[in-house]
Amino acid sequence: MSATETSIQTLLARRRPGHALEQPFYTSPEIYQLDLEHIFYKDWLFAIPACQLTKAGSYVTLQVGAYQIVIVKGADGEVRAFHNTCRHRGSVICKSREGKVAKLVCPYHQWTYGLDGKLLWANSMGPEFDPTAHGLRSVALRDLHGLIYICLSDTPPDFDAFAEQAAPYLGVHDLRDAKVAHSSSIIEKGNWKLVWENNRECYHCSGNHPALCRSFPLDPEIAGVSADGSISATLQGHFDACAASGAPAQFLLSADGQYRLARMPLQHPAVSYTMDGAAAVRRQLGRVAKPDAGSLLVFHYPSTWNHFLPDHSLTFRVTPISPTETEVTTTWLVHKDAVEGVDYDLKRLTEVWIATNDEDREIVETNQTGIFSPAYTPGPYSPNWESGVIQFIDWYAEWMERALPAEARLAAE
Ligand code: FES
Ligand SMILES: [Fe+2]
Repeated sequence: MSATETSIQTLLARRRPGHALEQPFYTSPEIYQLDLEHIFYKDWLFAIPACQLTKAGSYVTLQVGAYQIVIVKGADGEVRAFHNTCRHRGSVICKSREGKVAKLVCPYHQWTYGLDGKLLWANSMGPEFDPTAHGLRSVALRDLHGLIYICLSDTPPDFDAFAEQAAPYLGVHDLRDAKVAHSSSIIEKGNWKLVWENNRECYHCSGNHPALCRSFPLDPEIAGVSADGSISATLQGHFDACAASGAPAQFLLSADGQYRLARMPLQHPAVSYTMDGAAAVRRQLGRVAKPDAGSLLVFHYPSTWNHFLPDHSLTFRVTPISPTETEVTTTWLVHKDAVEGVDYDLKRLTEVWIATNDEDREIVETNQTGIFSPAYTPGPYSPNWESGVIQFIDWYAEWMERALPAEARLAAE
């Protein structure tokens, strides 16, 4: 058991429920490393919408902690993920964030791999060399109704329970018929948990998000589920009406708190995240028949939250970059046949969340700066407005307590 594991366990054991975490959780390189090893290297992570890979040979690269990954569409249409590190002497193979290739060719000595990861060519390796033993190492991958998830562990945890529960909610959005209208990646100078904490409450929304508040409701009666899990009659009425129209909506939080699905209403009369509240795309993505069905909100810790609307969909990916830097990638999806300038205006489609992301970046960075102060002490979360943050922090703390070695747990008891 390392000193770091003892100290994180001690910190977790003395955590005050309903309060923010102590400073090291947001600043310490050692705890950041444990977060990577026990969460990001072990669990399923949202990577990209499948439609981002449009043709055979289209690829996207990702970095998760120390891991380099390439996700590529094969000639057979299958999407596969590989470790983006050459089986010769380890060079990164695909250096761009995305591109299109006929084969995966290492820039160092040109070892050449097929889109299925098989080694096809390696110069002068001698008669003993076995190419079949030197294919790219694959990364576990699942395509959940057009959302690509990957897992870096050689023994991935169960994904089926989430996939089965999410399927009816996502199915009606036809994400396999989507195309990427726009994508943005920003770096927030804050620990990944601060990015999540900020995402999981709208206590900050009225003071910070003028554009979003045109469509996003703040009234907890409409917008949320009480801390005790009860649902207002108004909200239940909305869930029932959505379900009757064929779009499952009921609030569903997994038993372990890792994911949540719920189709939440928008601020009447808004039907989409636009400045005037009207739909952003004329040719809708998916088959949600009720125009005011609102937004299917899906989060899956630690890597993604999403908004699926009747007219378009938004995916968000959270990637830790360092103890105090996090990348947030937002992708706007529209129907593949929707034409820019005819069916949608790109500025109108993207302006609310571009502004909101930037406002959130500023909030998170200011929060991180204040936490660096030696005078920082963890304060209480609002039971009404920040129950989502409490839920996230509880999930994180419980996950880490479970993940750390048994000796560490005993030492803390
Ligand atoms: S390291 Fe890739 S070909 Fe040598
Ligand atoms: Fe926000």
